[in-house]
Amino acid sequence: MRILGIESSCDETAAAVVEDGVRIRSSVVSSQVSTHAIYGGVVPELASRMHLEAIDPVIDQALDQAGVSLDDIDGIAATQGPGLIGALLVGFSYAKALAWARNLPLAGVDHLEAHICSLQLLDNPPRFPFICLVVSGGHTNIYHVEGPGTFTLMGQTRDDAAGEAFDKVAKMMGLSYPGGPAIEALAKKGDPEKIKFPRSMLGKDNFDFSFSGLKSAVARHLHENPDMRSDMESNMSGIQPAHVAAGFQMAVIDVLSTKLIAAARDRNCSSIGIAGGVSANQTFVTILAQSAARYKIKVFSPPLSLCGDNAAMIAARGWEMIRNNQVCGLGDDVYSRVKSVVPIV
Ligand code: KG4
Ligand code: ZN
Repeated sequence: MRILGIESSCDETAAAVVEDGVRIRSSVVSSQVSTHAIYGGVVPELASRMHLEAIDPVIDQALDQAGVSLDDIDGIAATQGPGLIGALLVGFSYAKALAWARNLPLAGVDHLEAHICSLQLLDNPPRFPFICLVVSGGHTNIYHVEGPGTFTLMGQTRDDAAGEAFDKVAKMMGLSYPGGPAIEALAKKGDPEKIKFPRSMLGKDNFDFSFSGLKSAVARHLHENPDMRSDMESNMSGIQPAHVAAGFQMAVIDVLSTKLIAAARDRNCSSIGIAGGVSANQTFVTILAQSAARYKIKVFSPPLSLCGDNAAMIAARGWEMIRNNQVCGLGDDVYSRVKSVVPIV
């Protein structure tokens, strides 16, 4: 079954053709990052307009690269939520119109579930059941993935997402947007042990996170160390900002890794998957894999092309849904917030 996937929940317009939920025939991503970078973050109105401009050519390109036409497509999958409403509406309305015109089944895909499904696109995907962290600019959620399409939310951030913390700390330090890659690069020159930032919620007996205290601690440190500020002004070349970046990054990695391993042990899982923009952080992948190996737990992460937002993962999840007759109609609408409810521990 050949699915056309469409993604437009935030600042990437993407389309992909995926066969049987696993074989990527094409995956096209048109990123708006350089436009939003000027404003230091995503401007929702601008995002919607840019999706409108990009959606037609991106879908054409995905079909072209796959060497197929719409006649060869068996189903449409589009992100229904969570995300920016205006942005979601562009892709989802397009998908509804296409499905109606072509009389094809339409899957309204949950963006976070799709990030989990990016792992099934690996040559060696994790076996069920496994624990999966979806970690991006908008979310930090731990799921117990029991089988295809069976996800239970075990914990989530109570304030900032991990990626959001990377972006905000980078902004404070005068680094470029998005902040994750900039912090990771700078951290390579620093010592992660030099400045010990707080690890929030580590002692708590749950799988939730909090990153706003860490962000404030970095802000305080920058404020109290004026010599470091002059380092920052001199083009971030000084060693002090690198220590801050390394210390901050290690605090995030420490909390994410500890909670993930605890979740895997709690549910008796021998595999942990990570997905979403922050899973592109190779320092995180390496440290998590090393720590998990001590408990004989294996770590799975997507290739860089599938870490950030893409439509291959949307098609992969849509394939599962269409096979199970979980299709939606023209009356269905997009949603902005996470749909699952986390149990209170
Ligand atoms: O999944 P994604 O592309 O979009 C959202 O759904 O948010 O994730 C974007 C987030 C941003 O916050 C960005 O700073 C972060 O992922 N990110 C990283 C890295 N690359 C991207 N965070 C840490 N290290 C990275 N290398
Ligand atoms: Zn995402």
